[in-house]
Formats: sequence, C-alpha cells, structure tokens
Amino acid sequence: MIKKRVAVLISGRGSNMAALIAAAKDESFPATVVLVLSNRPGAAGLATARDRGIETMVVDHAVYGRDREAFERAMQERLEAHRVELVCLAGFMRLFTPWFVHRWQGRMINIHPALLPAFKGLQTHQQALAAGVKIHGASVHFVVSDMDAGPIIAQGAVAVRDDDTTATLAERVLAIEHRIFPAALALLAAGRVTVVDGRCRIEGTGGSSGHLIVPEI
Ligand code: GRF
Repeated sequence: MIKKRVAVLISGRGSNMAALIAAAKDESFPATVVLVLSNRPGAAGLATARDRGIETMVVDHAVYGRDREAFERAMQERLEAHRVELVCLAGFMRLFTPWFVHRWQGRMINIHPALLPAFKGLQTHQQALAAGVKIHGASVHFVVSDMDAGPIIAQGAVAVRDDDTTATLAERVLAIEHRIFPAALALLAAGRVTVVDGRCRIEGTGGSSGHLIVPEI
C-alpha cells in the first residue's frame, strides 16, 4: 500500500496530533505523518511529536506580522519540501487566506469540538452548555475559506449531563475527537470520501439506521 504523506499543523498541546500519529503507526493505516508543523515555537505538541520520532518545524506567524500570505508561503514551502499530500489541522489557531485554502482544497481537514454547524468559533463547550443542548460532540470537516464550515466527513457525539462543566464536557468530547480524527483521515487517505453538492459521501459504509437518543427514552 502506498501511504499518503500527511502533515499535522498544531498551535498547542497536540493531543489530536498524538492520536493521528498513534493511528498512523498501524501498518494497515493508509497515511503516514511525515511532518508536524507549528506556528508557535512554544507549542507543547512539538516535543510530543519529536518523542514519537516525527520531524517537526516551526513557522512562527509573528515573524510575518500582518502579511498572512507570506506566512502561508513559508508553510507551503515546507509542505512541498516534504512532499505532503494531505494536511490535518489539529488545534491550529490561525485562519488561512483563500490562497492557501485553494491550494489544499479537498486535501486539508480540521477537527472542531462541536457538532457543526452548531457552535462555530471558540469556547464551544461553553456555547453548548449555554444553549442547553442534550447532545454535543466533535466534527471533522474539509477546510474552506469560511471558518468552521466545509463538508463534514465525520462526527461523534456525547450526551451532555446535568452536572457537566465546560471541563468535564471538554474531556469527554476530546476522547471522541481522538477517535473520529484518525477515522476521518483514514477514509480520506483511502480515497473513500467524495463530496457531492457540499455533502460528503463515504464509500463502503452502509446507511446506518442507529438512533442516538438522550436521555434514553
Ligand atoms: C481540540 O479541542 C480541537 O478540537 C480544537 O482545539 C483543541 C486542540 O487540542 N480545534 P489538542 O491540541 O489537539 O490537544
């Protein structure tokens, strides 16, 4: 099997990055992580990646000031030098210009800690609690120019408990993120994702009729 070459872009802790690296260690996984790139020199995930034997690089956005495209061109150079085919945004806290998004259209995915299209942006767990939803979760989607939009490849849900705080909810959602991100990457790398009219069709999954009802009634 020829594995797809993947770069993971991070800005911080890198727990989703670690989940991707762990999944990609499996011989049957259709992608391999060839580079971890951070826009922040102090991102904790950089050390984690190095510990796992993955090459890391920093392209510090601060160096480029307001010239977002110059920052992106610097990243693009690194990605091309590593012959990267797919990009995973794992807690990467910069928005891209259309120039960069266009270059990676259909080949760049992001993990968002909410069931999109609900709760875009930051503090999603706080947003979910404030809204009083009973089911919350995470989504993996293609990156498009609009923030937290783009065709959804995979979602995972958790029940919201009456006594949840943002911290307890975040912890359960994070566990789901660590499952759906590698799963979505595997589907994409294996060529099983097709976008039709803005919706992802996943080849080889029978339409599940499973219901998820919270509270169970
Ligand atoms: C995750 O919750 C991810 O969904 C969001 O930022 C957080 C990053 O966490 N985009 P980590 O760096 O992967 O631990």
